Amino acid sequence: MENELVFARTKTQGELGMELNTSMIIRQLPKLLEDQSITDIGQIAEHMHALKTMQNQANLWSYDRFTESGNAALANVITEYSKEKKECILWCLNNYLGLNRNPEVVQSVKSAADKFGTGSGTPAVSGGMSALHKEVQNRISKLLGRERTLLFSTGYTTNLGALSAIPGKNDFVILDQESHASMFDGVKLSGKEWSAFRHNNVENLEEKLKRAQGKYENVIVAVESAYSMSGDLCPIREIVALKSKYKFYIYVDEAHSFGFYGDGGRGYCYQQGVLEEIDFLMSTLSKSIPSIGGFVSAKEKFCTYMQCMANSFIFQTCMPPVDAATILASLDVIQANPGIAASLHEKNAYFRGRLREIGFDLRNSQSPIIPIYIPKLDVLFKCSKELYERGIFSVAVTYPAVKLREGRLRFTLTAAHTQEQIDKTVDEMARLAEIYGIAKVEGADA
Ligand SMILES: Cc1ncc(COP(=O)(O)O)c(C=O)c1O
Repeated sequence: MENELVFARTKTQGELGMELNTSMIIRQLPKLLEDQSITDIGQIAEHMHALKTMQNQANLWSYDRFTESGNAALANVITEYSKEKKECILWCLNNYLGLNRNPEVVQSVKSAADKFGTGSGTPAVSGGMSALHKEVQNRISKLLGRERTLLFSTGYTTNLGALSAIPGKNDFVILDQESHASMFDGVKLSGKEWSAFRHNNVENLEEKLKRAQGKYENVIVAVESAYSMSGDLCPIREIVALKSKYKFYIYVDEAHSFGFYGDGGRGYCYQQGVLEEIDFLMSTLSKSIPSIGGFVSAKEKFCTYMQCMANSFIFQTCMPPVDAATILASLDVIQANPGIAASLHEKNAYFRGRLREIGFDLRNSQSPIIPIYIPKLDVLFKCSKELYERGIFSVAVTYPAVKLREGRLRFTLTAAHTQEQIDKTVDEMARLAEIYGIAKVEGADA
């Protein structure tokens, strides 16, 4: 290990003309190296590995941590580099409703494995779908009152496939600038023209729509209902209202709202009364629904279109049937127990209230994703490390998940978190606020 560090230092001083330091964002390194005319992929990879080693030695590398026996609000976390095991409150999981440990859901997997075995063997187009997959599609269509639903194998490849397939020859896509990477990747893969509007800024979107009118055959606006990195909710009603002035299709990713917003978990668009106006309603099935996969619910004709045009649908093996069983059982639990989602929203209000009392900057976030903005990256890393050492695991969110030079601690709340776990986390954050001055004092200038 020590040798690796020496290697890192020699390389950086000898060849880079810059010093690697533990606060560096690893994803930025290739660009910095390119600026120094280092373009050999082997060399770049060596430098990246050297930086990772330094961060590991400083216990700042959180990306190779894993849980001993799966995810839960409280779990044993193992750091691969040091082999250290630590019991932690986990704040980085999207299991919003805690259903991954629900006995009915777990039992459904066992029963499905007995009947359907493991794996699906091939994509849907060549017979990989089982009766369980079909049931999932029909169930979601019925729940959302849509003509049809197309099931993909992951949320990422849902956006990749749908957004690369939907825009046609003379079409234009406008996305919120904070949309998930899978949405941008899908649009880029389409090769069609696109533009990003300022986050949640309806005026800016309108300007772009105005300019696009008459210039393109179809315009597609793509947004998230609740943003994954900021916890901001989308002004979806105002965006839908623009349909009265401009002609466009709307694509909404409900990854962070399906299952716990709206009656029966129908999502944020439903709760806001605009579901019928949404042309393509997408969600992952890996968050409130503790499975894997994603879907797009839309008019029958659009589903046929995506079925034939989305490569990630055509060329990707279907999710295993046990995961389809998980989805069905989770929907049963969600519909029979509205109290689970209600308790999530209550805990969210409590957690946020306590953090705001201390003076933390939570910006406009509202969903159960609670970001604490910490502008100085070295401080952010120290906070994340200190929290971890005290049994609180919250990954420092940096580029490329957020803009370059931005950083935040992100606490993703689930219904499985207890009041004690929330209180312990708030107390630790208050301690860090005192040490590092990361909370604004009420009444003081920002
Ligand atoms: C908004 C959004 N869309 C899509 C995805 C991709 O979903 P999955 O991880 O289930 O593939 C994510 C994942 O975090 C997400 O946050």
